[in-house]
Amino acid sequence: MMEKTFIMVKPDGVQRGLIGEIVSRFEKKGFVLAGAKLMQISTELAEEHYGEHKERPFFGELVDFITSGPVFAMVWEGEDVVKTSRHMIGATNPQEANPGSIRGDYAVTVGKNIIHGSDSLESAEREINLFFNGNELVDYTRQD
Ligand code: CMP
Repeated sequence: MMEKTFIMVKPDGVQRGLIGEIVSRFEKKGFVLAGAKLMQISTELAEEHYGEHKERPFFGELVDFITSGPVFAMVWEGEDVVKTSRHMIGATNPQEANPGSIRGDYAVTVGKNIIHGSDSLESAEREINLFFNGNELVDYTRQD
């Protein structure tokens, strides 16, 4: 099914110069970039985005980290992109992420795991609407 998903290079990924590498992996896979921006997340947006983790002991740490520096927010479109991009990203805990996945290749700890990707179609829609206005997304097809 044609879908859109929300992918974000976290502050550690931006600091380590991994934006290009991550964009490149999604481009080469064949997905279509529908929107992208470098931005500083506010505390309010962070708390909303991570709302489902509110009761977790690491919630404060999570909000502090995601607001600690710029992130690169993206919307990618394609056939089954939600599930496929989760495979490309790898397990949440980089210790369990397979080599070849983004976290498997570049991340060591669960707190600083480089990248976020929506975990379901419902989350994707919620997160895209949270981070992007409709006029920031472009609808087109790739000629490859
Ligand atoms: P993400 O997929 O962006 O969504 C929730 C995040 O919580 C997850 O990535 C991890 O980075 C983070 N997380 C999960 N478990 C822990 C933990 N034990 N300590 C700190 N952060 C965590």
